[in-house]
Amino acid sequence: MTDHLLCNINDVDEEDSKEFMIPAGETERSVFVVKKDGLISIFTNHCPHLGVPLNMEPDRFLDVEKNFVICSTHGALFKIDDGECVHGPCLGKKLTPVTYELRGEEVFVSKDL
Ligand code: FES
Repeated sequence: MTDHLLCNINDVDEEDSKEFMIPAGETERSVFVVKKDGLISIFTNHCPHLGVPLNMEPDRFLDVEKNFVICSTHGALFKIDDGECVHGPCLGKKLTPVTYELRGEEVFVSKDL
């Protein structure tokens, strides 16, 4: 059930990414939103190679050309649409997608990732 208001879609610039935190019990989980070519993708901030956060700098999840999600640790590249790794040490593995629902301009996700 998508019951948690994550953000307004205008909080994320086109061809850019932004991190948001989702309450999870006594802690929080990091997810990030990518907007590109009219597509909205949301993934958990977790590299399938070593399980570490993907970014070293706030809100920087895309490569320089803004064509792929990039892991800052070993440079793995992931497709923006489905999160599949197409280059790097976790080739063929995928980022974990977060199901979302757009209600007008508001993006809702489930807190149970
Ligand atoms: S930890 Fe992400 S590519 Fe190695």
